[in-house]
Amino acid sequence: MAKITASVYTSHVPAIGAALDLGKTKDPYWQPLFAGYDYSKQWLRDNRPDVVFLVYNDHATAFSLEMIPTFAIGCAAEFKPADEGWGPRPVPVVQGHPELAAHIAQSVIQDDFDLTIVNKMDVDHGLTVPLSLMCGQPPQSDFRWPCPVIPFAVNVVQYPVPSGRRCFQIGQAIRRAVESFDEPLKVQIWGTGGMSHQLQGPRAGLINREWDNAFLDRLIADPEAQSQVPHIDYVREAGSEGIELVMWLIARGAMADVAGGPKPVVKHRFYHVPASNTAVGHLILENPQ
Ligand code: DHB
Ligand code: FE
Repeated sequence: MAKITASVYTSHVPAIGAALDLGKTKDPYWQPLFAGYDYSKQWLRDNRPDVVFLVYNDHATAFSLEMIPTFAIGCAAEFKPADEGWGPRPVPVVQGHPELAAHIAQSVIQDDFDLTIVNKMDVDHGLTVPLSLMCGQPPQSDFRWPCPVIPFAVNVVQYPVPSGRRCFQIGQAIRRAVESFDEPLKVQIWGTGGMSHQLQGPRAGLINREWDNAFLDRLIADPEAQSQVPHIDYVREAGSEGIELVMWLIARGAMADVAGGPKPVVKHRFYHVPASNTAVGHLILENPQ
């Protein structure tokens, strides 16, 4: 059977992608940020998954106000990097895993969570920046990501957005789905977006280090309690775009301890301000073997 081996959490600031693509990772502004991911890139090489289930949000790129799925699972064979206004990022096309994605869709929908099935979709910085941070730039001689990726897009842009509780529950359903797939695949689940940031209005630039770090503490130690926190607390404390953090609860809900198994091992924790307008947080949690 397939199993979830680990979860990864990271912010997705688009300027990080631009810094990588323009060769600025050693600039004094960016160097401390990228240094926080050195461990992670080595860890990913040492713990290469067969598939990454990547929870992220689309920023009105593939979806617009014309169509707003709350939870959308990418079942296609491939997903192209989106043109977000400056041309697509020069990163590989994302290879999907249609068989596992279709199985997860079947299982999660039969488990009473309604998903939108997406068979064609471009992926924006919400998905490509976490891949870049964890994998680095793939060499031209072998221009591909290290493994297939199943994109799982969550609406955290246009209200009403799903609650942290719903996200935590759907993570548990995703775990049940993965563990009933009849192939011995190692699957990682990544929760992305956040941490505190607000991109517009009088509070633009808001950063709340204390709240962010308390979120990380609770996500590790008591995700059930964190899942009960209402939206308004995220928006007040972490800014309007801080609401992206509810997506981390999907990945956390898929970890073994939530289903009565052992506690995860914290392999890496990193926090850095600033990256553009955003506080960057990052965690790697492993399920004990
Ligand atoms: C920024 C952060 C985001 O999450 C985003 O989607 C766009 C911009 C920023 O900090 O610049
Ligand atoms: Fe964002």
